[in-house]
Amino acid sequence: MSRWRLAEVYRKERIIEFFNRSGILVTPEALELILEKNLGQMINSMITGEVMNSGYLTESQVLSILRDSSETRSPTVEIDFSSLKVNSSVDDFRRYFSDRYERIKRMILLSSRMRGTLSIGKVKRMGGKVRIVGMVSESSVTSNGHRRLVVEDLEDSIQVILMKNKPVSSEIILLDEVVGLVGSVSFGKGDPVMFADEIVRPDIPNRVAQLEGGDPVFVGSISDIHVGSKTFRKDDFRRLISWLKGGSEEAKALKYLILSGDVVDGIGVYPSQEDDLEILNPAEQYAKLSEYVSQIPEEIKVFIMPGNHDSVRLAEPQPSLSPALSREFPGNVTLIPNPYTLKLEKRNVLVYHGMSLNDMVELIPGMNYSTIGEAIKELLIRRHLAPKYGGKTPLIPSPRDYHVIEDVPDIFITGHVHSHALGEYKSVRYVNSSTWQSQTEYQRMMNFSPDPSIMTLFDLRSRNVIKKDFKS
Ligand SMILES: [Fe+2]
Repeated sequence: MSRWRLAEVYRKERIIEFFNRSGILVTPEALELILEKNLGQMINSMITGEVMNSGYLTESQVLSILRDSSETRSPTVEIDFSSLKVNSSVDDFRRYFSDRYERIKRMILLSSRMRGTLSIGKVKRMGGKVRIVGMVSESSVTSNGHRRLVVEDLEDSIQVILMKNKPVSSEIILLDEVVGLVGSVSFGKGDPVMFADEIVRPDIPNRVAQLEGGDPVFVGSISDIHVGSKTFRKDDFRRLISWLKGGSEEAKALKYLILSGDVVDGIGVYPSQEDDLEILNPAEQYAKLSEYVSQIPEEIKVFIMPGNHDSVRLAEPQPSLSPALSREFPGNVTLIPNPYTLKLEKRNVLVYHGMSLNDMVELIPGMNYSTIGEAIKELLIRRHLAPKYGGKTPLIPSPRDYHVIEDVPDIFITGHVHSHALGEYKSVRYVNSSTWQSQTEYQRMMNFSPDPSIMTLFDLRSRNVIKKDFKS
């Protein structure tokens, strides 16, 4: 069996498994068509109610989904992921949000400002000065210009008013985020209302980062390589590989290299993508990537995470790339899921491809792609990688919420948005790891200039950071 034939068997199994989980049987003809046209990602995201109801995905349904998609989709149409939620029961959502609520609540209660926190049900009966922890389920502005929230715990909910003349009214509040609230409850004519004076976030604790002496041990971070795209910057990437092989002091100190998603460009990720591709087949794109990675000295441990262009399901948490692929890569490569925390030399390195950064830019006033570091900080403050459920980030309501930032990271790595942002928030060093792709047609349309071909080096001992530029 040739190498990519084997990969194909794995891909078939994954497609069948994906639809099985949704209770849908894929007919062999439909499976062939999906494989032949590399439609896995696209079909996953476009399952119609008709397919859900019948429990079968047939060849003609695939063809009609394709026809619909080419008729209705313009190049900027967003993929509708709502279909992925259809398969999840109310119980799945309850478990998912309970897990998110409980784990973030525990962090919020560590704050001394939250001493004496009670359940929402209790404070609604008691009134007076209160503290609660709740998940924001509604947010609006009243006719008088005050901010009105509805927050929930696992049993009850309450209306919360943030008066426009108080500093608390300028807080950034996202739907579905879990917050601590300090204020007082009043009983008017209707239901009890809480007037909030303060919002308490789980946040990153104030602590002094432990430094270690000795020679540097570097972890290198690169992202969004997009092998297979016509705009993949091959020359820059070859220069990076030569540098890794070059034997300089810095290169010798590099022990780990992280590729945080979109390692290939894929196909069917957006309409007419084939026009932008140099390599049309994802299997060949991975083979090409493997050729590059095989040249990296074997002493360097390489970690590869998938992103929204890779051949895994789009909804997060994304599993690691297919085991069939790992056989194509050399032995120093480890495939990791998205998101994931690596423990390297006793440091927590949190890696997340970063799809939710699109939502953060959209939801936070004044935020844009050149201030992405600010968006990253907002994730850390909330101890959650995708605070708002849904939006542009498809999430699977699994019993455990994998986007809760449980362990405080020493290093936080994201990618996806193709800008380079390096910074520090409290004891956390963070980077948005840029890309190895030149400006695409779409980015030109959106007036966005990426900052490509950069590797960021973090010294796991001294916490020093070095930015290495490989642009020609
Ligand atoms: Fe991406």
